Amino acid sequence: MSARSPAPADFYVAEPARGIRRFVRPRKPRTKNHAHAADPKSADTNETPAAQKQPPPLPAGGERGTESARSLRRFRTPAHRATSNVVAGAYPFLAEAGLGSDGVYVGQDAWSGGAFCFDPWVLYQHGVLTNPNCVLAGVVGKGKSCLAKSLATRSIALGRRVYVPGDPKGEWTAVAQAVGGASIQLGGSTSHRLNPLDAGVRDHRLSDQQWTSEVSKRRRVLIGSLAASTLGRPLLPVEHTALDMALAQATLARVPTLPIVVDAVLSPDKSMPGATVAQLARDGRDMGHALRRLVAGDLAGLFDAETSVTFDPSLPMLTLDLSRITGSDQLMAMIMTCASAWMEAALADPDAGARWVIYDEAWRLMRQPALLARMQSQWKLSRGLGIANLLVIHRLSDLDAVGDTGSEARALARGLLGDCSTKIVYQQEVSESANTATQLGLTTAERTMLPDLLTGEGLWRVGTRAFVVRHTATPDELRVFDTDQRMRA
Ligand SMILES: Nc1ncnc2c1ncn2[C@@H]1O[C@H](COP(=O)(O)OP(=O)(O)O)[C@@H](O)[C@H]1O
Ligand SMILES: [Mg+2]
Repeated sequence: MSARSPAPADFYVAEPARGIRRFVRPRKPRTKNHAHAADPKSADTNETPAAQKQPPPLPAGGERGTESARSLRRFRTPAHRATSNVVAGAYPFLAEAGLGSDGVYVGQDAWSGGAFCFDPWVLYQHGVLTNPNCVLAGVVGKGKSCLAKSLATRSIALGRRVYVPGDPKGEWTAVAQAVGGASIQLGGSTSHRLNPLDAGVRDHRLSDQQWTSEVSKRRRVLIGSLAASTLGRPLLPVEHTALDMALAQATLARVPTLPIVVDAVLSPDKSMPGATVAQLARDGRDMGHALRRLVAGDLAGLFDAETSVTFDPSLPMLTLDLSRITGSDQLMAMIMTCASAWMEAALADPDAGARWVIYDEAWRLMRQPALLARMQSQWKLSRGLGIANLLVIHRLSDLDAVGDTGSEARALARGLLGDCSTKIVYQQEVSESANTATQLGLTTAERTMLPDLLTGEGLWRVGTRAFVVRHTATPDELRVFDTDQRMRA
């Protein structure tokens, strides 16, 4: 045995009479030279005088004995073992493994401290998501747009494209310019026009005949939904017939435009089986006057001539700047309806790759059932078209502000939420937390944190999994994305 490692038995001696063991000072190590060992002043000892004065260390469990205030045996609990599924149920944020490193870097997972990456297409392929659509809800100024812009611009590096079919604040224009995209500006002092009868981008897979029939179908649906928006009700069967006749008449013109359709509805020149010219004029009267609002009434100036802007779907980012359209959410929704008709043609291209379609400030855009119906069809077709829709709203109850209770519009808006596999919740008012938690099926732990989330922090529900993520924005991004300049000025 080495002189420096006394056996544990050296610390204790048994006192058989009292039945306990007492702690005693350890004996000096034995050396061969007993004379030297017995003499404390001897220079032969290795220990310094300071070390000699040190009391011996206590055992980790403390001194044993009746007055030691310790239990006879050490307290030991068996290790608890459970699968990560069970532990995740007991406390949902504990040790989440993350979504992997594929896709764009979003920021930091607040619980694990690891990097958080997100890509709806990759996650769909891995079976984590059942669809690529996302909804992002949060109070004003907490970084929703900032996150949407980061997701969009960082995705461009991975070869995705981005469409923003309605930007009521015009805050995406600078972003589009920064990434080499374009922004279409409408309204105000700009003289730009959108012709709702535009044929749109041709699908190269269709024959001439198929293309002609596709264009006439698109026109009928688009003008029908514009008329229904201005009328505030669905079209009657006789109105559909009057519209069909008017569109056939307008298509004879070199470039069919809305004023030609309005003239043809109000003064038809041909009868048809089942309707005389006079009957067609009477049946189409309401609809004709409703459409006239877009040509000569209060909504005039945007839809009444040939299109003067170009829509290039091959650009990395394309936005529709509606910041100059003042006052009328209805007009804004109608412009978006026309723009989404163009966009749909571009989206239908099977070679166009994966694209984000971002509806920022969507609560303003969702008042029109016609637009909602178009959005819903894009939501449903998202997987087939390779698009991921991102809906940005303030609170989930925004969807209940659409239409009347039990109305078709309300059902459409609710359906959009149901078709979003990814739900990102930024800070919510305390009064809104309970509703949000119920609608998203959040746990109590998740719900209590909603009012306390900081700017850029969000609770991500990705399929059935939950994360708290701090979005990291770079200084360059913040310079382009900033929406607070005017507040700071
Ligand atoms: N992740 C972030 N890091 C730092 N600042 C941020 C972050 N997200 C947002 N901000 C700041 O907050 C401001 C408001 O963000 P914004 O995205 O416009 O809010 P919202 O769209 O929710 O109203 C931005 O101008 C930016 O300066
Ligand atoms: Mg915003």
